[in-house]
Amino acid sequence: MFQNIISRFDPTAGTLHGGALVTRRLSDLRGIFADEEAYRRALAGGDPVVYTVESMEPGDGDGDLHYGIGRIMPGRIGDEFYMTKGHLHAWRPAAEVYIGLSGSGTMMMEDEATGESALLPLEPNGIVYVPGRTAHRTINTGSEPLTYIGIFPARAGHDYGAIAERNFRMVVAASEAGAEAIERERFIKMIRERSPE
Ligand SMILES: [Fe+2]
Repeated sequence: MFQNIISRFDPTAGTLHGGALVTRRLSDLRGIFADEEAYRRALAGGDPVVYTVESMEPGDGDGDLHYGIGRIMPGRIGDEFYMTKGHLHAWRPAAEVYIGLSGSGTMMMEDEATGESALLPLEPNGIVYVPGRTAHRTINTGSEPLTYIGIFPARAGHDYGAIAERNFRMVVAASEAGAEAIERERFIKMIRERSPE
């Protein structure tokens, strides 16, 4: 009955002892960054780890929960910060709780039906509640690794397809204020104007 009910994590390293590890390198993130030229240049120089997720799946019943700890390394591709692929939950009504542990970052959320976006801080001692039917992506806007815990229904599942197809409507880019959200189309136009072919 009481199996897999405790675990230990390291909030600074962003590791979960005994968790299943997923590692995403830059080459796994093709099509995620808006500045394709900057992505190609970065990849030509190496294939660094951009983020890892270690997750625990104690049970798969209707009422069970899964959870994981994410760690996003600091870095940028062009003006865009290192970030996760982003996803919707395969079971759309599933919500998720994110708990910031270390570093500083933001969470981009986008309502699937309306396209409405919100950029929210994800920081130590901060919690972000992601409602169901909301695409979400985590972004490291700081200079240290960003670590956080995510807790979600066991049956949520991950749907990366919709994001891979059209990406998020907004891009989070470095600015004088630190980070700002810009419409993707406007951002791509700005890049093209800056570096004419
Ligand atoms: Fe999620």
